[in-house]
Amino acid sequence: MHADIKIKNLSFAYDKTRKVLNNLNLEVKAGEKIGIIGPMGAGKSTLLLHLNGLLMGQGTIEIGGVAVTKNTLSEIRRKVGIVFQNPDDQLFSSSVEEDIAFGPLHFGYDAKTISEMVTLAIEKLNLKGYEKRVPHQLSLGEKKRVALATVLATKPHILAFDEPFANLDSSMVKQLVNTLKQLPSTVVVVSQSLLPLAVFCDRIAILNQGHITNIGTAKDILSDDNLLNKNGLDLSFYKKICHTL
Ligand SMILES: Nc1ncnc2c1ncn2[C@@H]1O[C@H](COP(=O)(O)OP(=O)(O)O)[C@@H](O)[C@H]1O
Ligand SMILES: [Mg+2]
Repeated sequence: MHADIKIKNLSFAYDKTRKVLNNLNLEVKAGEKIGIIGPMGAGKSTLLLHLNGLLMGQGTIEIGGVAVTKNTLSEIRRKVGIVFQNPDDQLFSSSVEEDIAFGPLHFGYDAKTISEMVTLAIEKLNLKGYEKRVPHQLSLGEKKRVALATVLATKPHILAFDEPFANLDSSMVKQLVNTLKQLPSTVVVVSQSLLPLAVFCDRIAILNQGHITNIGTAKDILSDDNLLNKNGLDLSFYKKICHTL
C-alpha cells in the first residue's frame, strides 16, 4: 500500500545562495491529519506549494503513488487541493457561487453536479446568503471561508491548508477544527496556531533548517515545551494562563 503523500529528499531554493528545503523526507498515510509547525520562514508554505506542483524542487514527491512531474500536473491537481494563506490568491470571480463553481467546472462536471457541489460547499461552510456577494468585498474571515469552500467543493483526496486559523474568530476556529476532524480526506495543515492542531491532528511534524526535525503525536510534540522553544514556538505561556482561569 502506497503512502498517500511520499516526499523523498526534497530540496528547493528560491535563489541559488540558500536552500529553503534541504533533503526533506515525509510520509503521510491515507486519511491521516498532519500538522506542520516551525519557526517563521522555515519553509512551511514553500513545502505546501510542492504538494500540487506549484513549486518543483529536487527529489521526489508521490501522491497516491503518482510522481509529481510536469506530465502529471492535471492528475495531481485533481487529487490535491491547497487552501492558500491569503484568500485573495484564491478568489477571482465576481460572486461567491461563481468562485466555488470554478473548480468543478474546470474538472468538467455537468451543470447539475456542479450546482449540487456548490450547494453542499455553501452549506458546509455556513455561507448561505453569500451566493451573490462579491468575494473581494468580504471581510478577511469571510473570504477565508469562501476560499475553503472553493477547494472543498471539488472533494480533493488530499487537502492542504496554509495558516487556516489566522484571522478567524474563536468560534470560527472551533467550527473549522470540527470540519477538518470529520473530513475523510488526508489533511496537511501548516499553522502557527498550535492549540487547534491538538484537536484533530494524528501527528505533528516540526520543520526547521529545511527538513522535518521531529515528528510525533500531537501530545508528544505539543507537551514538550523545550522542543517547542528550540523551534521558536511556545505554548507554555498559554498553558499557564489557562491554569489561572
Ligand atoms: N517567492 C519567494 N522568493 C524568494 N524567497 C522566498 C519566496 N517565498 C518565500 N521565500 C523565502 O523562503 C523562506 C521560507 O519561506 P516560507 O516557506 O514562506 O516560510 P514559512 O511559511 O515557514 O514562514 C523565507 O526565508 C522566505 O523569505
Ligand atoms: Mg508560511
